[in-house]
Amino acid sequence: MEIDVPATTTNFGAGFDTFGLALELYNVFEVRHSDSYRVQIFGNEGKSLPADESNLFIRVYKRVCEILGVRETPLELKQFNSVPVARGLGSSATAIVGGIECALRLTGVNLSVEDKLKLAFEFEPHPDNLLPALVGGFTVSAVDGDKVFYSRFDFPSELKLVFVIPDFELSTERARNALKKRFSREEVVFNVQRASLFIAALLGREYGLIKEAVRDKLHQPKRAALVKGFNEVLSAGYEAGAYGVFLSGAGPTVCAICESEEDKVGSEMVRAFQDEGVSARYKILKASSEGCKVKY
Ligand code: HSE
Repeated sequence: MEIDVPATTTNFGAGFDTFGLALELYNVFEVRHSDSYRVQIFGNEGKSLPADESNLFIRVYKRVCEILGVRETPLELKQFNSVPVARGLGSSATAIVGGIECALRLTGVNLSVEDKLKLAFEFEPHPDNLLPALVGGFTVSAVDGDKVFYSRFDFPSELKLVFVIPDFELSTERARNALKKRFSREEVVFNVQRASLFIAALLGREYGLIKEAVRDKLHQPKRAALVKGFNEVLSAGYEAGAYGVFLSGAGPTVCAICESEEDKVGSEMVRAFQDEGVSARYKILKASSEGCKVKY
């Protein structure tokens, strides 16, 4: 069985822990039954990921079998990684979603998207990477205790996403610990206005609004200090013609939304990182309307 799970980008500035998008870049997990656990890691990314039972995909598979009360069969896993690790592109979510789908398929159990998310929360307690990895497209999610509400729609196909990926990792834990614990009413209202504006801008194809819509006061101001050159890279993206520039997920990757000039935007942003002494590369990715795919 082969399980392909897309990379994801989240937040889009103001939509912290809420907005997510599946991307046409995949981690591929090939699994078969075996007499003992065996893990091999391949691909351009994630060479340092554990190739034993502490591998996240395997841990999730085992835990889901345990929760479902079914006997786990050891697996041989070949993991082909294309999603950069600890860069804000949902690499962990690919392993979590993949491990859940694997356990469900091998045990013949069907669960709703909401129930799959509840399983996933044990490993990553926010839905914004997990949901688009499961269902594809652009997703909006809301959580209340153990209830999950979500909606998805296709991201406008004329918009391209340029990801400028610096050569250093930033763990989500560190990027979350940097955040303020309390916010003023003005800060909260600022984000509610812009997150709502972002959805309206996408649905109404009013892309000139995106620049304002991706401003936020909840996470990027603190995280900027962890991503050397962030403000310069943001300015370079806008000067090169991007509609909107923001941190991809928890960072350190910076994402720009463009309709044209995507190579210029990418190279100017890479140069801005380099001017700050940070080496970086860029990838232009399309949105994926599909989430996780299982092939036999
Ligand atoms: N919304 C999350 C964050 C994404 O910004 O911390 C990272 O998993």
